[in-house]
Amino acid sequence: MKYQGSKNRHAKELLPIILADRKEGQYFYDLFAGGLNIIDKVDGNRIANDIHPYLIPMFRELQKGWIPPLNVTNEEWRDIRDNKEKYPKHLVGYVGFNSYGARFFEGYRRDKVGKRDYWKEHYNNIMKQLPNIKTITFINKSYDEVELQLNSILYCDIPYKSTKKYSTGNFDYDKFYQWCIEKHNEGHQVFISEYYMPSDFKCVWQKEVNSSLTKDTGSKKNVEKLFIVK
Ligand SMILES: C[S@@+](CC[C@H](N)C(=O)[O-])C[C@H]1O[C@@H](n2cnc3c(N)ncnc32)[C@H](O)[C@@H]1O
Repeated sequence: MKYQGSKNRHAKELLPIILADRKEGQYFYDLFAGGLNIIDKVDGNRIANDIHPYLIPMFRELQKGWIPPLNVTNEEWRDIRDNKEKYPKHLVGYVGFNSYGARFFEGYRRDKVGKRDYWKEHYNNIMKQLPNIKTITFINKSYDEVELQLNSILYCDIPYKSTKKYSTGNFDYDKFYQWCIEKHNEGHQVFISEYYMPSDFKCVWQKEVNSSLTKDTGSKKNVEKLFIVK
């Protein structure tokens, strides 16, 4: 699914590094799974977690065979945004993520020239992904509350420190750094996607990318990186 901070375009380069030493049966945890754009390309024992209260309910229902709507009007979109408690969580998730920049209820997507059908695109994107997420186990907690199998692979695509905040609110970076070191010492393999990490971590992959393109600012360059604990 299209998602703020999606790693879809980097998966081909990241996964061979993350899974290089994976043993048979070893668990892979995507602890900040977002649009599942990494874990949908992993096989075997795999667990997707995200704290977002509407995202995981949506994926769970889709797994069970729920067919989402093919169109949602601007009026319906606004009513769902403003009265979330009136609607099932999975529907709120589905509708909220078809928004400007794939950010939860950021703005109703419309096409001024009438060429693109954003609802059809959203539907098709998700339906195309569905066969690859059928066997994922979902968890809907904060990363540090997830119970882990021994010696697992933990992938952490955290909200970047320097970029636009997620609807899930503030993130405690120092607590996260500490947690990574702890998990590493317990025997897990920890991988982190971020732009910058403190000196306890080392970069094992990097790539310059155009991170945004707007008519006002033009393209902005960022260096996408993957870190491990030193
Ligand atoms: C960069 S996005 C993940 C994108 C995903 N890898 C993809 O390719 O689609 C970061 C995610 O972290 C989630 N998140 C934020 N704080 C969290 C926490 N404490 N525990 C678990 N997930 C959290 C957000 O809801 C968001 O979905």
